[in-house]
Amino acid sequence: MKEKSIELLNKAIADELMAVHQYMYFHFHCDDQGFDLLANLFRKTAIEEMMHVEILAERILFLKGEVEMKVGGEIQHIHEVKNMLDLATKMEESSALDYNNWANECSQNTDSVSKKLFEGLVADEERHFDQYDTEMDNLKKFGENYLALQSIERSKNISGGPKA
Ligand SMILES: [Fe+2]
Ligand SMILES: [Fe+2]
Repeated sequence: MKEKSIELLNKAIADELMAVHQYMYFHFHCDDQGFDLLANLFRKTAIEEMMHVEILAERILFLKGEVEMKVGGEIQHIHEVKNMLDLATKMEESSALDYNNWANECSQNTDSVSKKLFEGLVADEERHFDQYDTEMDNLKKFGENYLALQSIERSKNISGGPKA
């Protein structure tokens, strides 16, 4: 019973670590291309996923399990913003679905604390999904202008334009 929860919590850590790696990779490439808004969003989200790892690990240790710290898979080397957002929304959608299912499994195994933990993560992953989805909409609506504006904004900041 406890073993099942530990297994699910470790699976979640593997997914979260994978997300940390993928989002930091996206952060580096957005930063490199001058897309500050997106670079910051990926970095901020990667940090939140890392905090999810911490919450999950604490629960595993409380249940006297081993924190495996396996990474869920290889990252994808994507450099194009549309494809980044495409993958990121899919990752968030699938995490939210998994965590919903795993919350139910924990509930069936009479582990209500792990159930609540997974439910809390679902709320965060849905918020992440929404953030990436909004950026995807902006990109569709404004096209390349949306990215160009981010680069122009950075140049203004670097050249130390008029201070507010
Ligand atoms: Fe997460
Ligand atoms: Fe997330």
